[in-house]
Amino acid sequence: MWGKRASRPVGPPRARCPCHAPYSTTGLLYFTIDLMPRLPFITFEGSEGCGKSTHVKRLAARLERSRIPFLVTREPGGTPIGETIRELLQFAPHNAGMTPETELLLFAASRSQLVRETIKPALERGVCVIADRFFDSTTVYQGAARKLDRQIVEQLNAFAVGDCIPDITFVLDIDAATARSRMQAPRRADRMEQQPAEFYERVRGAYRELAEREPNRIVLIDGSGDPDKVENEIWEVISSRFSTLASVAKSKIEDRKSKM
Ligand code: TMP
Repeated sequence: MWGKRASRPVGPPRARCPCHAPYSTTGLLYFTIDLMPRLPFITFEGSEGCGKSTHVKRLAARLERSRIPFLVTREPGGTPIGETIRELLQFAPHNAGMTPETELLLFAASRSQLVRETIKPALERGVCVIADRFFDSTTVYQGAARKLDRQIVEQLNAFAVGDCIPDITFVLDIDAATARSRMQAPRRADRMEQQPAEFYERVRGAYRELAEREPNRIVLIDGSGDPDKVENEIWEVISSRFSTLASVAKSKIEDRKSKM
């Protein structure tokens, strides 16, 4: 998927930085970089409390400093339709009786909208896309943890994303006790976070298995370490795999230094 030439980004000339805005399709940062190869589609995965949202923000801040055009999005959600589905899945007062099958279909519905409305158009405009969760969450949560039929989950994932596959996926791996301690902070009650401990053990195990099965795409990172160290580790992997992105970042920084 590398090597495609992107046209000049179009869209609102200056929108709010996605790091400081709620997740939304309008949270875009646009800078113009002409005739560059397509920038990568990067996803972050892991169980609750693993720190993925922190590292999504840190990566976005790095790209912003380097003036690389990027879009941050999340799942479920990221579009007006997706955010309504998110509310239904997580917080709607009547969602307690939701069946695993309904849950699977709702995640797939949110994703298929996000891919077509937001992710693909952004990649085609030459924007780097960073997603907080994507289809691996469904494989792990609905497939392995909820134990829905694996083939059906795979087929639905494929139907929802089409050819829009992440170039790289970071799985932040932490043990269940660390995850629980990070989730102690007061938060809005979320239906998805009311599961027994074995559920999260299955989630963790399934992510680790996925990383073994797809070593070219998935990078397993120890999420329990110092956040600065984790951030650097993630950036090293990105800059070694996507040399164009790294060289654009470097040249922008040098350009800025020469103007100081
Ligand atoms: P988050 O805000 O931590 O990303 O919460 C999203 C919740 O939804 C989390 O419990 C994982 C769950 N989830 C699934 O079960 N399947 C999916 O496909 C996705 C995207 C999320």
